[in-house]
Amino acid sequence: MKELIDKLKENRTLSKREWVALIEGRSPALADYLYDAARSVRHRYYGHDVYVRGLIEFTNYCRNDCLYCGIRKSNSNVSRYRLTEEQILSCCDTGYQLGFRTFVLQGGEDGCYDDSRLGSIISDIKTRWPDCALTLSIGERSYDSYQYLYDAGADRYLLRHETFNAGHYARLHPPLLKAEVRQECLWNLKKIGYQVGTGFMVGSPYQTAEHLAEDMLFIKKLDPQMIGIGPFISHHDTPFAGHPSGTLELTLFMLGLLRLMIPKVLLPATTALGTIHPKGRELGILAGANVVMPNLSPTTVRKDYALYDNKICTGDEAAECRNCLERRMESIGYHVVTARGDSLNI
Ligand code: 5AD
Ligand code: FES
Repeated sequence: MKELIDKLKENRTLSKREWVALIEGRSPALADYLYDAARSVRHRYYGHDVYVRGLIEFTNYCRNDCLYCGIRKSNSNVSRYRLTEEQILSCCDTGYQLGFRTFVLQGGEDGCYDDSRLGSIISDIKTRWPDCALTLSIGERSYDSYQYLYDAGADRYLLRHETFNAGHYARLHPPLLKAEVRQECLWNLKKIGYQVGTGFMVGSPYQTAEHLAEDMLFIKKLDPQMIGIGPFISHHDTPFAGHPSGTLELTLFMLGLLRLMIPKVLLPATTALGTIHPKGRELGILAGANVVMPNLSPTTVRKDYALYDNKICTGDEAAECRNCLERRMESIGYHVVTARGDSLNI
């Protein structure tokens, strides 16, 4: 199996059959070999720097009903909220003082935020903090809408493809949502000029090694600037309540593979990874990740943005998370930096 890792390091790609063999044939020793290789390419391009992004979860209203997600529209136990523009700007203000130079506006697919409303929030943020990058993570929209928001000043867009395989996608989503449409959105975002992030959940219900192999091939083809992956974690109020969560072990392995496949990509050690293991984010960094995304949302609404159970940091102020992460990164020999942290994969 080491030969496959060497081959990946050399060619930056594998065939579907090879991906499956590597994923199914993994072992603790192979994983250590992979993480060594992943860290060495990470250090070549990004040194020991860790980029931080301030995440602002500005609405938990969502028109969609994804089977895995805690804020799906049919979950009537969620207390729904929207932040006002003033609240959003105040999150950015706090974040800027804490050294954040990227803000991520994330929310459910909430019809209340039409182009003009979002456009004015975006241009206000960019006018007030011109040295910051603004990332959107607000789901599927039309080409024209993506263009409008880009013209308003948005720099980056996160939209996980969730799973490439159409059959698998259909088992995780209501019939109205299609894998193909999702992927089309990503190509549109790229064409418009956004720095694009995609990604998938690890260990989602019914996922196989073949599905993960297809995810790797799709990501290679898309060649995104960012890749967000994290373990699936069940939420008690969803149809997947009884399903086991994805593992730390497989998530770390996929992070290492992604780092070797696209050496310059921005790869976060996600909150979901920190949720399934107390040292999940540190281990993610040690497997090749180079970004962390602490929460800047007001603590009053944190617990209402529960995509999955036991989400960490729901009671912590932005400053606490910022300091906590700084300590965590220092403990493993890495340093949080104050920078926009643009992708070198361009
Ligand atoms: N477990 C882990 N990740 C989840 N997401 C949504 N629900 C869950 C869950 N139950 C992820 C999806 C989405 C991102 C914002 O959060 O991949 O794209
Ligand atoms: Fe939020 Fe540690 S990152 S408390």
